[in-house]
Amino acid sequence: MNATLSHWTLETDADGLAWLTLDKQDASTNVLAEDVLDQFVALLERLERTPPRGLAIRSAKANGFIAGADVRAFTPMASREQALALIQRGQRAFDRLDTLPFPTLALIHGFCLGGGLELALACRYRIARDDDSTRLGLPEVRLGIHPGFGGSVRAVRLLGGMKALDLMLSGRTVSARQAKRLGLVDHAVPERHLRTAARETLLNPPAPHRPGRLDALSNHALARPLIAPLLKRKVAQHARPEHYPAPSALIDVWRKHADDPRKMLDAEAASVADLITGPTAQNLVRVFFLQERLKGLARAADCGIKHVHVIGAGVMGGDIAAWCAFSGMTVSLQDQAPERIAPAMGRAAKLYQQKLKDPRRVTAAWDRLIPDHRGRCIERADLVIEAIFEDKDVKQALYRDIEPRLRPDTLLASNTSSIPLEELAPALHRPERLVGLHFFNPVAKMQLVEIVRGKHSSEQAIQQAMAFTRAIDRLPLPVTSTPGFLVNRVLMPYLLEAVVLETEGVPAALIDRAAVDFGMPMGPIELADTVGLDVCLHVARILAADLNVEVPERLEELVGEGRLGRKNGVGFYTWRKGKAVKPHPEAGRRLPDDLTERMLMRLYNEARACLREGVVADADLLDAGMIFATGFAPFRGGPMHHAMMQGEMALYRELQQLTERHGSRFTPDLGWNNTKG
Ligand code: NAI
Repeated sequence: MNATLSHWTLETDADGLAWLTLDKQDASTNVLAEDVLDQFVALLERLERTPPRGLAIRSAKANGFIAGADVRAFTPMASREQALALIQRGQRAFDRLDTLPFPTLALIHGFCLGGGLELALACRYRIARDDDSTRLGLPEVRLGIHPGFGGSVRAVRLLGGMKALDLMLSGRTVSARQAKRLGLVDHAVPERHLRTAARETLLNPPAPHRPGRLDALSNHALARPLIAPLLKRKVAQHARPEHYPAPSALIDVWRKHADDPRKMLDAEAASVADLITGPTAQNLVRVFFLQERLKGLARAADCGIKHVHVIGAGVMGGDIAAWCAFSGMTVSLQDQAPERIAPAMGRAAKLYQQKLKDPRRVTAAWDRLIPDHRGRCIERADLVIEAIFEDKDVKQALYRDIEPRLRPDTLLASNTSSIPLEELAPALHRPERLVGLHFFNPVAKMQLVEIVRGKHSSEQAIQQAMAFTRAIDRLPLPVTSTPGFLVNRVLMPYLLEAVVLETEGVPAALIDRAAVDFGMPMGPIELADTVGLDVCLHVARILAADLNVEVPERLEELVGEGRLGRKNGVGFYTWRKGKAVKPHPEAGRRLPDDLTERMLMRLYNEARACLREGVVADADLLDAGMIFATGFAPFRGGPMHHAMMQGEMALYRELQQLTERHGSRFTPDLGWNNTKG
């Protein structure tokens, strides 16, 4: 029996085995869109009528099996009923696959994620291609939901409660070999054996995988009520249930129904329908699309950059160099003396061991990173990234020195965090090649890179910088070359308001707690200490020269006393072993009612000003910038999105009230005025 629909092809071979291949039309990646599922069900009906000896499901796409459900269908979700209907359709399709009366098998290569893995789990067997590109996982929690097409029920049945929940609660992906060890796949085999292994399994079907005794025990009715609270406590340490409800909801579904698959399926569907229509999931899906948008900003597929030369091996330059080499570039790293480069090399070694593990890959990355204190490799570089001291004259002197040695087509980027490019460009004969590539600290963690366009920067240079940023798996955000660019400018008033609060006598630990309660990854005082109070002071002074920002005396004072924060062990906090020691504030202490509001409103007001001035193209890009550079509470969808939920009029009035109470730093930006009505 052969059939071709727009997304699927069904072929039967001489042994009577059916091979069902997914090749989603007009798409580079397979996702389970509505019509893909409809056609799948139609084909299953045919197979039920004329059963083959066995069925293998595979993908025709080079990049992988199936990436998941179609996230586009998640938002906006009109109602809970609509969500439930969508989920139940998926469940019914996979139930049908699960109950076919002949052996079924998923042949997996590349990514097999979310709904894709749920489909594979509904097969009797799974075989994965054993290579670096194969990744399996159930990462739904990252979108604020959990598996909904029967995946949680089947994962728990196949792996036992603990292992399955660990996979689903962490959202992590595993390689083919790890999946084999877990019991998630039956075999991990090289490409050349895939087809034979599938044939062999379907023609001589072994008993399907079952979890080991101990693993199965965690599903027992007596074990679940003991394990569930422990798991909840563990996940709450990473994500608060009031901010991210999905992990806790999944644990509940399992605790209540793990011994009754039918009931667990119903509970799974109801739980996902609740979650997906809630604000967290809607905002996390929004963040997913923002990320896609940033990825799409780089137009050129190939950046033409193979060799990067980084000058300045300090906190930033060292880590930028390490990250570029990690991403496959050849990198030379220059500083004033070899001993200045050594710490950066040490950090790089640690990063590679952590991220790559495999000694051969660690060595390969390490070999790509070349210490070059004399700067001999600069002639060979396609891109030079300057990350030396934040001083206009020092940077200009360096540019004058190196420009004659650059190839005519070499791109020059500064990692300056505050100096407008127009102040650096006069040192160059060819200023059109200069752009800003503003990375955030820590480089390996913060995904965003601001692409700063100076007056002289050529369009070609900007495009190349964006393509390069994608090539090293970071997210490019184009911004204008104005003081503080976007992210620091929006963040700084929020940090400074925290300093003002601290000066008024509010304990630093309580200020930080309020911000973390809101959903920030770290409080503003701790963040200031982490960034370095000297760095904060420097940026604050630059902003104060142009904007409605005052530098708090307290900040000047601390820096004057040499209290720089984490880097020298004392700032607002004392630091021990890289951790802030936070004194316990006395119990029952009364805090200002507008504590959180004061910090956030300054951030929103500055964000509004940036939009009005065109520092960034639109509010969505601004939100993306703040989320991917600073970790601004992703479940709130970004600062402008969150601010707008309150309504522009309400924000305007609130700013006016804060101005009356606390002074002109809260004066509503003109951008709000435009919408005052
Ligand atoms: P850093 O002080 O840790 O490192 C600067 C390095 O540049 C030092 O190792 C120094 O020896 C070297 N250097 C200075 N002049 C040099 C020259 N003429 N030739 C070769 N090497 C030279 O500074 P950091 O924090 O890494 O900052 C570097 C740049 O990155 C600055 O422009 C800063 O504004 C920017 N930046 C800093 C961030 C941070 O969190 N520290 C974040 C984003 C940007």
